[in-house]
Amino acid sequence: MPTVEPTKDGPLLLAGFPYLVQMLDGKELPCQGTVALCRCGASNTKPFCDGTHKTNGFSGDKDPDREPDRRDTYVGKHITIHDNRGLCAHAGRCTDGLPQVFGHPDPDGGFANPDAASRDEIVAVIKQCPSGALSYSIDGKEHRERGGPPFVGVAPNGPYVFRGGCEIKGAKLLAGATTDHFDLCRCGKSANKPFCSGAHWYVHFDKQAPKPADAE
Ligand code: FES
Repeated sequence: MPTVEPTKDGPLLLAGFPYLVQMLDGKELPCQGTVALCRCGASNTKPFCDGTHKTNGFSGDKDPDREPDRRDTYVGKHITIHDNRGLCAHAGRCTDGLPQVFGHPDPDGGFANPDAASRDEIVAVIKQCPSGALSYSIDGKEHRERGGPPFVGVAPNGPYVFRGGCEIKGAKLLAGATTDHFDLCRCGKSANKPFCSGAHWYVHFDKQAPKPADAE
């Protein structure tokens, strides 16, 4: 299985992937052996590390004020939704896809309402959750993993996107997390390093890079 290792206040060491995919244009960047990926957000050779973290005070620590690591469970008639807000990368797939289900649709309820859409609709949206914050159970069986070939991508203006399984060396997984799919921070500002917390959006990370719409 491929591996990724967050180093102390330094880059991610990636091994076992033949290439990284630039998700903006699908370009494959070869990465033979072990490669060092920037996670301070300031390398001049992104996505690769150029040593800038040694001079810009980058810390790989988590923010003590981050969202708590807590798994919530929402039991519906046909499906149960599991959610850890502390793991969310705020990609918005769930709140955009089914706003009647996700994102506190009921002022008196929690983050999700499992009875506000069909079971299949909810499954389809949860399968798009990149961070692993969401999973679901049907008939008492939890579904977290999706399988598929190993993949690591560089999201434009956002995190490293992992799919298909990768061992994360030396990082404690949050409740409900899976090594099948997850997002790792590359902007340097996540509250939940090494995982992405969505902070890249607020700091306008790498905004000089073209957005997907600009590239069309
Ligand atoms: S890439 Fe840093 S918080 Fe998402």
